[in-house]
Amino acid sequence: MRAMKRIVILISGRGSNMQAIVEAARAEKWSAQIAAVISNRPDAQGLEFARNNDIVTAMIPSAQYANRASFDADLRAAIDGFAPDLVVLAGFMRILTPDFVAHYQGRMLNIHPSLLPDFPGLHTHRRALESRATKHGATVHFVTADLDHGPVVAQASVPVLPEDTEATLAARVLEQEHRIYPNMVREFLEGAYRMEQGRVVFTDQAASLNRKEVA
Ligand code: GRF
Repeated sequence: MRAMKRIVILISGRGSNMQAIVEAARAEKWSAQIAAVISNRPDAQGLEFARNNDIVTAMIPSAQYANRASFDADLRAAIDGFAPDLVVLAGFMRILTPDFVAHYQGRMLNIHPSLLPDFPGLHTHRRALESRATKHGATVHFVTADLDHGPVVAQASVPVLPEDTEATLAARVLEQEHRIYPNMVREFLEGAYRMEQGRVVFTDQAASLNRKEVA
């Protein structure tokens, strides 16, 4: 029997991507468990969902740390205490130190609400509207020291409609996030792809087809 894989999910707020992953893991009976959900904010809404679903939670209050390095050191200790195979950033609103990122190289994923390399950083939906983009979307990528520029695992695009507001566009993108992120987390745990020398290598044909399907 295959060993249960362990996932640690980091959140800062609503946690809807975390929720999508938890629900997919349950519905699809992944041979993986959510070992913990960790927040850097005490008031992150997602913590409540995790607790209600009997998932272990931890909170490392970033606001109380004097500097990035000391926060990252405590966060790393907390994460490693759960011995994860994969660390999933899901709306985790922190810039991480290069040492931290290097420690999880090849085993930490993020989702970003744009078609990277377009619109790294914040306020992606507003910026897509302002630049009159006709296509927008979401990207799952490995986390590297270069913020929002790690190797792309999958993308999903949506049209930008003339009547769109930031809220309607965000909702359309979020629906895609909830579809592609759980898929790519599952495929990582199944060994369908990995990061090698700064690139994503798909080891199984189905995963690479799936990636194209969502692109
Ligand atoms: C998502 O749009 C995600 O792409 C971005 O932050 C948002 C988090 O939403 N990184 P949620 O907390 O998963 O609901």
